[in-house]
Amino acid sequence: MAELVLRDVTKVFKGGVVALDHVNLTVHDGEFVVFVGPSGCGKSTLLRLVAGLEQLTSGTIEIDGRVVDLDPPRDRDVAMVFQNYALYPHYTVAQNIGFSLRMRRYPKREIQARSLETARLLGLEALMERRPSALSGGQRQRVAMGRALVRQPALLLMDEPLSNLDAKLRVAMRGELVRLHQRYGTTTLYVTHDQVEAMTLGDRIAVLDRGRLQQVGTPEELYRRPCNIFVAGFIGSPAMNLARGRLVATADGVDLVAGPVRAPLPAGWEHRWPGLVDRTGRDNGAVAGGEVVFGLRPPAFTLVASTTNDPSIIVTTAVTVESLGDEKNVLFVPPFGAYQPDRPDASDAEPPALWTARIDPDAPVHSGDRIALRMDLTAAYFFDPHTELAIPAESPAPALAS
Ligand SMILES: Nc1ncnc2c1ncn2[C@@H]1O[C@H](COP(=O)(O)OP(=O)(O)O)[C@@H](O)[C@H]1O
Ligand SMILES: [Mg+2]
Repeated sequence: MAELVLRDVTKVFKGGVVALDHVNLTVHDGEFVVFVGPSGCGKSTLLRLVAGLEQLTSGTIEIDGRVVDLDPPRDRDVAMVFQNYALYPHYTVAQNIGFSLRMRRYPKREIQARSLETARLLGLEALMERRPSALSGGQRQRVAMGRALVRQPALLLMDEPLSNLDAKLRVAMRGELVRLHQRYGTTTLYVTHDQVEAMTLGDRIAVLDRGRLQQVGTPEELYRRPCNIFVAGFIGSPAMNLARGRLVATADGVDLVAGPVRAPLPAGWEHRWPGLVDRTGRDNGAVAGGEVVFGLRPPAFTLVASTTNDPSIIVTTAVTVESLGDEKNVLFVPPFGAYQPDRPDASDAEPPALWTARIDPDAPVHSGDRIALRMDLTAAYFFDPHTELAIPAESPAPALAS
């Protein structure tokens, strides 16, 4: 059990790659924090720094109040599970699990007792005398976890531990991880690119982009109150739809204007998004001429039969229809064009050019069909196009099915 504190953690590799840039984070005792972010954003480097497998460029790492920056890995009481776990091929399951205890010269009895207890917890007790070559992929991964858990480390670090497993096994192992965490309560840092894993495993999720920590919060907080465009587009699957628009004051309210679409914000908008009030062009304090980036999650659309006079209806063509049984998603080109960042250094996690609407699974819609979709602007998110920061809502967006 341990608390981990990262202070201004920075790592610059030879050649100048800034893998981590002043990361500040406290992981509480017993907490399970999941790290997500596009490939190359620094997730593995962060875990390797905590484990002591890489040296910091600047900043400090504390475990339970003790600065461990200069400690070698074996003195940090940290265990790590990788995607490509390497088991000792000529050792049995029992010997693999007990390895770290043997290295630490635990008494033979205790090694046996602890290994067996760990194996039981992982459903491996019947396989103790087998060698890795006689195990399935899932069983091998379990042995790798057993090897990390057996000495009950202060910190458990896992870097995409399930990504080599097939989908069904991943789901089963996810449940097992939850159970193990409940049983041991080990402070855990977990890296994944799987949205569902992140949302279901994490007490909190930490989003990284290009070495910088963007936001840390509960899955619910990140989904409902993303702090910027990057987090908004990254958390949630299918991703939030984003576009550029303009707010224009009218006689009795404010219109959102985007390409050919001009739709009024719902009544009470000034209470729901107080930060929008000075962006409407209503007075001289108008910020950036009323420019915004707005976002709508896929469930914020309804398929409608025909184009009535409702200005929040967009008429478009279904490019692709994805039927997932109890869920149907339509991909379409929005008439105003999807948001693209104007930064030259935008990472490879750029938002897609198509928007996605989640519609009634029974709706008879096929690729190529002309469709009409009503946008529910009460569920809209707004961002500043220059800072990319969220314009906070007084009450968070409604909890739509994720
Ligand atoms: N040993 C290394 N030497 C130089 N650059 C590295 C090294 N390890 C990682 N990097 C770079 O640091 C950045 C972060 O890498 P990494 O932590 O592996 O990202 P992630 O795990 O999020 O995909 C990447 O640009 C990567 O190319
Ligand atoms: Mg990695």
